[in-house]
Amino acid sequence: MKKIQFTETVLRDAQQSLIATRMPFEDFENILATMNKAGYYSIECWGGATFDSCLRYLNEDPWERLRKIRKACPDTKLQMLLRGQNLLGYKHYPDDVVRKFVEKSVENGIDIIRIFDALNDIRNLETAVDEAVKRGAHASGTVCYTTSPVHTLENYAKYTKQLEEMGVQSICIKDMAGIMGPQDAYDLVKAIKETVKIPVVVHTHCTTGLAYMTILKSIEAGADVIDTATSCLSGGTSQPATETLAFTLRQLGYDVDLDDKVLKEVNDFFKPVRAKALETGLLNPLVMATDTNALNYQIPGGMLSNLVAQLTAQKKLDKLDDVLKEVPKVREDMGYPPLVTPMSQMVGVQATANVLTGRYKNISKEVGSYVKGEYGKAPGKVSDELKKLVLGDNEPITGKFADTLAPAFESTKSELGKRAKSDEDVLSYIAFPQLAEKFFDARDEKERHTYTYSIKAIKEG
Ligand code: CO
Repeated sequence: MKKIQFTETVLRDAQQSLIATRMPFEDFENILATMNKAGYYSIECWGGATFDSCLRYLNEDPWERLRKIRKACPDTKLQMLLRGQNLLGYKHYPDDVVRKFVEKSVENGIDIIRIFDALNDIRNLETAVDEAVKRGAHASGTVCYTTSPVHTLENYAKYTKQLEEMGVQSICIKDMAGIMGPQDAYDLVKAIKETVKIPVVVHTHCTTGLAYMTILKSIEAGADVIDTATSCLSGGTSQPATETLAFTLRQLGYDVDLDDKVLKEVNDFFKPVRAKALETGLLNPLVMATDTNALNYQIPGGMLSNLVAQLTAQKKLDKLDDVLKEVPKVREDMGYPPLVTPMSQMVGVQATANVLTGRYKNISKEVGSYVKGEYGKAPGKVSDELKKLVLGDNEPITGKFADTLAPAFESTKSELGKRAKSDEDVLSYIAFPQLAEKFFDARDEKERHTYTYSIKAIKEG
């Protein structure tokens, strides 16, 4: 019987979706050696928001985290999520930076790089895919799933064919909002399987309650790998549960190569982590429930919690329904971008501004750049109103935006001088300058302490 493989997401997407990526390394350090024995296809543990969160909130070196995970999990493939030309940030980087980032990710321990572009603009994947393949990593070409008049099965299939020709070793369907219904999934997986020869991975979220059914129908249609999360951190805005799907698929006669005893150990380990997050309020029970709003509004879990946080901070939570209704309008005006980072933030912020201050009275800088073509090609047509407001009589960029950017790695490296202790530091700085500086300062301070302490210890004998 066909073998179905599992990617465990607890260290990246599950914790990103449920607790805003605030899980420090110490909270999972002691389970890594066990996870290494579970039989996962891969452990998704890096990229996405983990890099940002390490620097911003956890005072951790993201590269160091990766090396430690690598060391503890020598037998399991480590996977990261990369936003194509955006890397892990929110803007486009020049090609030399993208290449260096991919090179260093692989060197520090990444085996599989899932690469996507928020607009499914293939030009924004090219460089990252090319470098990943060159470095011997597995490049997984990703399709951001969304629904709109321009997102047809035919267009999706064509896109995956181009990705295969580009050299990716698998195709991932990324349903970040959990809006892909079982039949949609069946049709899409089937169309892709009929188009490409490489394995198909399905990634979805439980947000709307569709995920288990969607995964089952995907497998019926030929999907090879699924993304799941250990059960205590599954469901809601996270992935469906690893154990539940292992059980189900075995019952249906599929070959599942996971060790149930290990899966239980992993889950038992994370239960107190969840309890602590609930206690501190980091984990809001709301995000663990089913919310069918996304079926109408197409709001991914992370975006919904951001909107709630934004409106709460401005004491305007009563406007949530209006903002949710404004989101599809903004999205249509922007030519139907899939709601994934950074588009989800962009659309969310703009929809909020429209509701609070009047439609397009304040256009965010990011939406301006988007309309100018700085993020890539919009999947559909940008509305004339929005174009007129942003561009006036100018034309948007038609080429790949990163081609207009000057190489930045070597110049930043020499600019930083001794401040950066490695190429990895330079990349952290390029991705998040202020956060990296703050992190370098804290690290220097810590080293001074350790140094003083050891001198003292030597003197005191
Ligand atoms: Co996701």
